[in-house]
Order: sequence, then C-alpha cells, then structure tokens
Amino acid sequence: MFTPAEVVEKSKEYTFVSWSAQGIWNPVPMERGDGVYVWDANGKRYLDWSSQLVNVNIGHSHPHVVRAIQEQAAKLCYVEPSSTTGPRARLGELLAEVTPGSLSKTLFANGGTDAVENAMKIARLYTGKQKILTRWRSYHGGTFAAASAGGDPRRLANEPGVPWIVRLPDPYAYRNPAYRGRTQEEGDLVVADMIEEIVQMEGPEYCAAIMLESYSGTSGILQPSPVFFKRISEICAKYGLLFIADEVMSGFGRTGEWFGIDHYPDVKVDIMALAKGITAGYVPLGATVVSEEIAQHFDKNTLWAGLTYSSHTLAMAAGVATIEVYRNENLIERSRELGKVLRKGLMDLAEKHPVIGDIRGTGLHQMIEIVKNRATREPMSDFNKPMTDAMKQAAKNLKDNGLSTFVRWNMIFNTPPLVITEAQLQEGLQILDAALDKLDAYYEG
Ligand SMILES: Cc1ncc(COP(=O)(O)O)c(C=O)c1O
Repeated sequence: MFTPAEVVEKSKEYTFVSWSAQGIWNPVPMERGDGVYVWDANGKRYLDWSSQLVNVNIGHSHPHVVRAIQEQAAKLCYVEPSSTTGPRARLGELLAEVTPGSLSKTLFANGGTDAVENAMKIARLYTGKQKILTRWRSYHGGTFAAASAGGDPRRLANEPGVPWIVRLPDPYAYRNPAYRGRTQEEGDLVVADMIEEIVQMEGPEYCAAIMLESYSGTSGILQPSPVFFKRISEICAKYGLLFIADEVMSGFGRTGEWFGIDHYPDVKVDIMALAKGITAGYVPLGATVVSEEIAQHFDKNTLWAGLTYSSHTLAMAAGVATIEVYRNENLIERSRELGKVLRKGLMDLAEKHPVIGDIRGTGLHQMIEIVKNRATREPMSDFNKPMTDAMKQAAKNLKDNGLSTFVRWNMIFNTPPLVITEAQLQEGLQILDAALDKLDAYYEG
C-alpha cells in the first residue's frame, strides 16, 4: 500500500503518538512478528526484549491464539455486554481458576487503565468510602483518575487530578533514605509503618483501599520483601481498607508466578486489575476480578460501571486461547526457570560493567539501573528529566544492533516473551553487553 518511508510520513502527518512532543517522533515502521522476533518494513529483524510494552508474553503471532481469533471473527465479532457468549463464560471461569484466594467474578474492560478505573470505582461503591491510597513510584493508567492514582510523572500535566488519591512512600531500597543503614526487611517495615501513619492521618473511615502494583513495573521494578506486603495486608485488615492488586504488567507469568502477588502468599487480595498478558496484546482487553464478598454485594446493589466493549467477543476468545497457551506450554514455570538464566547473565554483565548499579526483579521481569558511580549511585539519567546523551546512545545502540526494548531514564528493561529460548536470551545479553561497553565510557567512578 505504502512504501516504508510513506508509512512513517503519513503516520506522522495524520496520527498522534502518546506521551511525546509530536515533532521528535521518529517511528520504525513495523511489519510482522513471529515468536520473540519482529521485523520492520525494511526487513530488519529485532529481538523483542521487552515483549513490546511488557504484554506480548506468548510471543508474536502464536498460531493457537491467531486461529481462535480468526474462528471467532468468522462466527460473531461482537455482542452488546448484556448479552453473553461462550468465550465470555469460559474466560470468567478461567480467571477464577488462575487468580488467587477468593477472587472469582470479573468485569471486563478494554485495557489496564479502565480495569484500574473499575477497580477503584468498585472499591468506593462497596465500602462507601472515597480515598484510594497508592504509591509515588507507580503507574496505573492514562485517564484522569487512573493517571492521578499513579505517582508516575505522566500524571503531572493532568494535575490537579481527582482529589481522592493519597500517595504513599515507596519500598525502594536502592534510593529511599528509610533504608540507609538498614537491611531490606528493616527498611520495608519502616516504610510500612509510615504507610500506617498516613492511613491514620487520612482517617481510615474515609479510605476505601490501598492499591499497589503487586510486582512493580515501569517505575523500576521496585520490589519489597514479603514482610512489606504482609504488613500492608495487616494494615488493611486493621483499618477496614480493601487491597487492590494492580497486576496489569506483572500478571500472567511475567515474574515466574501466575501473578506478582503470588510471591506474597500472606496477602489477601480483594480486587485485582488485569490487562496486557491476558490476551498477550493480540486484542485489547482489561479485567477487574473481585472477591466473593464483593461480588455478592453487587447481587443487590447496582454496579455503576460499563463500556460498549465490555466482554468484547473477540477479546474473550483471545483471552481463553492465551490462557490455554500459558497452561499448555508451561510458560509460568518457563519464566521462573529462564529468569534464573537471565539473572545470571545480568550479574555477569554487572561484573564487567561498573555502570550497572542495581539489578531488580525476577522471572522474565528484570531491569538494570545504570549509574555514573556505584558508590554515590548517581543515576546516568535523572528521574523525570529528558534522557541524557549517554542513555539515548545506549537505546540507539541496542536498536541498531537488533534489540528492541524499553529504556526509561537510567533503566533498561529485560522483559522478553516467556517463549524465549536460552540461546535467544544469550543473543540478547550479548547485544546488551555491547551497549554497556559504550555506556562504561560515561562512568565517573
Ligand atoms: C501496572 C499498570 N497498570 C495500569 C496500566 C495501564 O494499562 P493500559 O496502558 O493498558 O491502559 C499499565 C500500563 O503500562 C501498568 O503498567
């Protein structure tokens, strides 16, 4: 239809790109994907080291899901949400099976943002209370309330946002001063105590829920020890708050468990927000799963939430087929095992490259934090500032050498599809090694 150059030119002329000044957008026109690889319109191959936006967990063009979508499209693409379909019934049942605890009933949406919006709405409707408490370093979506909920700077231009969000300190052992001179667990308990005090000061009788990314993502995979989540659960129980787990990024095997929160068995989850890996990005879909008690509340009380595309038939079929792939190909276990290979590879790189200040995460959900100096931990690019030349060059170098990933401030994400092989992991680590060689030139230690 168009030459690759025309695709770029017309995309720039007629479409907007998210979260960016439009003039600096210089997209690569992409054409096809297969497994862990994607190809651009000029035939160049990239190893997808970030699963696009950490969603294409089963790799690209998986035949089982492609077939399920094609077969469903040929039969029925869409019915309005108060009708129902076989795929919807099955996906609801599957989500009740794979999610933890008494989570059992799902409201479907179009993506993570509206799954989070619905989670907050449900918490407020169910408790009759208003405030939702969230972390500073977190992202929960792009609409008004979801953007306010995330502390991520993508919220700033939208402020003042909704007034009922209260932000909490982060269990960021590498940088939060609460951890100085303390072990991770000791620091986690200090941060949890600070959170308890905030609940007291905000008035528990006005607080509906604490919402956390249960295994954090774009904010830098800041993950506390189990004592932190145990204390959060205790605080929720003590003061009558619900706990909302945002699993939009960490769900569906990313961290080597079905859900990030499965690493913390002591936690009671009341509401879970899902998206991304639920269909591995093949068709947009979000989901808000609630506990039995909350589900029962809405037997008699109206659920004031809805969307034209809630329970979209094609998305339901894609979701069922995607969960079948996770199960049939043991992708959760695979992520756990290959995560160890990835961690070993990143640790070997840290031996060689002083710019690696910290490595965080587990399963196929890991990141490296790039610093100018290991002793001072000064970041190679500052939080919420334009990327420095050093980081820009590293991102370009990765792309030029055929590795597509997500580079943010001083963080490089290593979140490939769960179908990646050990050999492909090594291929990615080699490309990363070469980019780190260049970054070492900026080290000031
Ligand atoms: C933890 C988390 N919650 C919510 C969202 C928003 O999801 P979406 O972009 O599908 O609306 C994201 C997106 O990256 C996310 O990482």
